[in-house]
Amino acid sequence: MSEAAQPITGQRALVTGGAGTIGSAVVDQLLAAGAAEVVVLDNFVRGRRENLTEAAATAGDRLTVVEGDINDRALLANLSRGTDLVFHLAAIRITQCAEEPRLALECLVDGTFTVIEAAAEAGVKKVVASSSASVYGLAETFPTTERHHPYNNDTFYGAAKAFNEGMLRSFHAMKGLDYVALRYFNVYGPRMDAHGKYTEVLIRWMERIADGKPPLIFGDGAQTMDFVHVHDIARANILAAKAPVTDDVYNIASAQETSLKQLALALLSAMDSDLPLEHGPERAVNGVTRRLADISAASRDLGWKPEIGLVDGLRELVSWWRSTTVEAT
Ligand SMILES: NC(=O)c1ccc[n+]([C@@H]2O[C@H](COP(=O)([O-])OP(=O)(O)OC[C@H]3O[C@@H](n4cnc5c(N)ncnc54)[C@H](O)[C@@H]3O)[C@@H](O)[C@H]2O)c1
Repeated sequence: MSEAAQPITGQRALVTGGAGTIGSAVVDQLLAAGAAEVVVLDNFVRGRRENLTEAAATAGDRLTVVEGDINDRALLANLSRGTDLVFHLAAIRITQCAEEPRLALECLVDGTFTVIEAAAEAGVKKVVASSSASVYGLAETFPTTERHHPYNNDTFYGAAKAFNEGMLRSFHAMKGLDYVALRYFNVYGPRMDAHGKYTEVLIRWMERIADGKPPLIFGDGAQTMDFVHVHDIARANILAAKAPVTDDVYNIASAQETSLKQLALALLSAMDSDLPLEHGPERAVNGVTRRLADISAASRDLGWKPEIGLVDGLRELVSWWRSTTVEAT
């Protein structure tokens, strides 16, 4: 077995962005898999303490939550010492990156550098990093494999994620740091941000449907995405640590193409609603009109395949969202 295969049981893991949507699911699965200690580092710009309530209740002193920034070099050096595995998820959203590119540079680029440098200096056994399908921009070939070039991306977020992958490769070459980067496609599931400025279309549609209004689609809704459930993504993180692979990137997606219109219809069905769809004027916010991943590499090397289909996943999302709105009232 290659040295790059790392167990979870008995290990100490640092999870940056561990109070966020995906990070908190990674924390849950690390604890369930028998990690000796899980340290969450989050500055709570978007993450929520409630996302860690269940983990804190079951894990006791195996879970430590540190409020801090990934740009704090001394803190990262301190937290990385004695750490076996780093799961790096801290980031800001693609939309916020477009509004505040300097903040994006500081968070996604400088912050990620600090995480990687500290991991390498502390002799961390493996880093599992969150990349994104945004590195492709609008791909030229479908299903899109990891070998597709990144030159169609025109977002700062996608550029930063591509640079992150390059940084990891260089630290593997310079310092022997083992890592795997995961390119998530369109993520959905419980603990999605339902309250902030950068909420996603599914949340806005759930709010409308609950108010008796049809989900509003800008344009014809023919744009497609490749949806993957947050629990499947968290499982990919665990498998990426355990698999005997290093210095590689993997698409994490369902390999199913779903149009916005199909998504709205599936959500209406998950909410047992017979409302029609409503179309609004096209908005030129996103040049990526199609997404469909090839996930054979993750299947072959990580032993990962998505397990939660869109219909079941949406039903779970709806029931989580309803429980949060009941709590809020
Ligand atoms: N959600 C998606 O659709 C998607 C798709 C592709 C890739 N990703 C990537 O997956 C990762 C996790 O995304 P998510 O959906 O869970 O997002 P999220 O916003 O729910 O979680 C990110 C977390 O990082 C924290 N954070 C932000 N800046 C920080 C900083 N400077 N220091 C410390 N903590 C900081 C936030 O408070 C938040 O808890 C990110 O790297 C994101 O870019 C997400």
